[in-house]
Amino acid sequence: MSEVRRKLVAGNWKMNGDRALLNTFIEQLNVPQSADVLLCLPYPYLGLASQNKFSIGAQDCSEHEKGAHTGDVSLQMLQDLSVEYVIIGHSERRQDHNESNAVVAKKMANALSSNIKPILCIGEPLEVRENGDVFAYVQAQLDAVLAQCGDAFFEKLTTIAYEPIWAIGTGKTATPEQAQEVHGFIREYLTQKNAKASQMRLLYGGSLNASNATALLAQKDIDGGLIGGASLKIDDFNVICQAAS
Ligand code: PGA
Repeated sequence: MSEVRRKLVAGNWKMNGDRALLNTFIEQLNVPQSADVLLCLPYPYLGLASQNKFSIGAQDCSEHEKGAHTGDVSLQMLQDLSVEYVIIGHSERRQDHNESNAVVAKKMANALSSNIKPILCIGEPLEVRENGDVFAYVQAQLDAVLAQCGDAFFEKLTTIAYEPIWAIGTGKTATPEQAQEVHGFIREYLTQKNAKASQMRLLYGGSLNASNATALLAQKDIDGGLIGGASLKIDDFNVICQAAS
């Protein structure tokens, strides 16, 4: 029998928040004993966030090791701080910065050979869902990373986030059934390739909030959340953490 997967509640502040909000979270976040909590902060706050309550993560990293890449931040730099996780392939990066599956795959391969744990983000736009092509779309996103990373994908990757783009920041959440359906597909697809995928944490992201957290997190293959808007409000975020415990 496989062990129970421990839930992860991950906040993604995006380009929001400030030093005062970070201090509020450091003081008032209630981390449950039975779940892990992570905040993915804007780069300038990463160095100010070390404490023992919750893990910290970055929201992206460069695909390059170092060099003439103005404005980029390397994995090595993140390792210099107490950064434990990095989000890779968020749909806002894919959209705003033209990050292709190939770039995402390269970043994933680099991260999997570092000490930082990547959270691979995948998820479909609305027209793909309306055309009924969700599984093929997320499978192609996974395949690009699998092809680049080889065995490291199963040996080292701990966390994938399924975030349907139409649900991000829109207040339109996937229903627990819609989310579970895709999570179940991802789990089955990966487990067929390597049984270790039964232990991977699959997070749901897309308008997860204090009201819908319990129902989403109760689904069999939903092992936590990647939370944008609701991770900026300490009371809501505490409710979500509680829902995961
Ligand atoms: P949201 O963002 O919770 O504001 O929809 C989720 C995400 O983009 O990670």
